[in-house]
Amino acid sequence: MPSLLVDDIGELVTNVAGRGEGGPLGIRRRAAVLVEDGEVAWVGPAADAPPADRRIDAAGAAVLPGFVDSHAHLVFAGDRAAEFAARMTGEPYTGGGIRTTVGATRAASDGELRATVRRLRAEALRQGTTTIEIKSGYGLTVADEARSLRIAAEVTGETTFLGAHVVPAEYADRPDEYVSLVCGPMLAAARPYARWIDVFCERGAFDADHARAILTCGQAVGLDVRVHANQLGHGPGVRLGVELGAASVDHCTHLTDADVDALASTRFDCMCHEGGHTTTVATLLPGAEFSTRSPYPDARRLLDAGVTVALATDCNPGSSYTSSMPFCIALAVREMGMTPAEAVWAATAGGARALRRDDIGVLRPGARADLIILDAPSHLHLAYRPGVPLVRQVLHNGVPR
Ligand code: NIG
Ligand code: FE
Repeated sequence: MPSLLVDDIGELVTNVAGRGEGGPLGIRRRAAVLVEDGEVAWVGPAADAPPADRRIDAAGAAVLPGFVDSHAHLVFAGDRAAEFAARMTGEPYTGGGIRTTVGATRAASDGELRATVRRLRAEALRQGTTTIEIKSGYGLTVADEARSLRIAAEVTGETTFLGAHVVPAEYADRPDEYVSLVCGPMLAAARPYARWIDVFCERGAFDADHARAILTCGQAVGLDVRVHANQLGHGPGVRLGVELGAASVDHCTHLTDADVDALASTRFDCMCHEGGHTTTVATLLPGAEFSTRSPYPDARRLLDAGVTVALATDCNPGSSYTSSMPFCIALAVREMGMTPAEAVWAATAGGARALRRDDIGVLRPGARADLIILDAPSHLHLAYRPGVPLVRQVLHNGVPR
């Protein structure tokens, strides 16, 4: 593969703390990045750039690691635009619409589901998302969960089994039986295509006992844990995630001090990062609060307590039909008390932490060459110019898209 130099970068966000300008973004000015074989081979001053087979002139613009969207539900059919419109006139969001999407998804062909996944994956990539996690959870039968994950695995390695999204209508009066199905044949069928297991731990979905049973079954067959937690009200999800060593607890909209303390105290040994330890990340999904007209999570409180925060889209047809990480960054800055630098870090390096990856969300030698060139001189513009398509060019695995 020919080498490629991204040259004349006005502001390079490396996310290598301690390098370049202070702060977690590790900003370098007047920089260049050399890409070889899909990886970053060199980062340094543009004046010292090595020769390369090809050159992209960033013309003084900002360059960032590609966004890491660590929470998305792309395998579904139909939409729920009418439900959204009703919410905008005052109807509450309850999660009850999930069953509508389950019905449409079961009725769809493989080709229809695949087309939707690919369309949304391409839409996200155009907006700078170079890694995306995709969950099942709208099939809720053995066959429909397995095919959802098989189709998701065609476009990402970060696949999550969410058979415990809600109890489907046909098991409404037999939730214990549904939990047995999820832990037994459904997990077995999903396992070949899944890296993660997730549960919607919430009133009206799965309680702590059911969620713990399902998540530990997944762990027993080698899946790592993430949890939908504390979205619609206070509850046990966050502390359950911490108890099980989850990579991430997602939503975190309604937190007690005990939840925040539990998250702040997490520290697990692992081989997944320099330094050999990781935490349970709080992944905040402001697209969901936007679309459900709910109060936003308090990112400032989490950051001040020392919790690692990620931002993700939660892209799904019910509670958050956006694939745009820049939109989430803008909301996080305007509504959640994050600085632009914190929000950009959370949408890149934070997402990588939430997926326990150290090869993405960062630009240093050896990292994947996933980067975006903005139509702007600084990362600040992502929040400062909301709704404007600022991602000029995306490199994914070193290949311009
Ligand atoms: O993350 N909270 C549960 N699941 C999704 C919503 C799914 C839906 O409404 O279809 C979420 O917001
Ligand atoms: Fe979700």
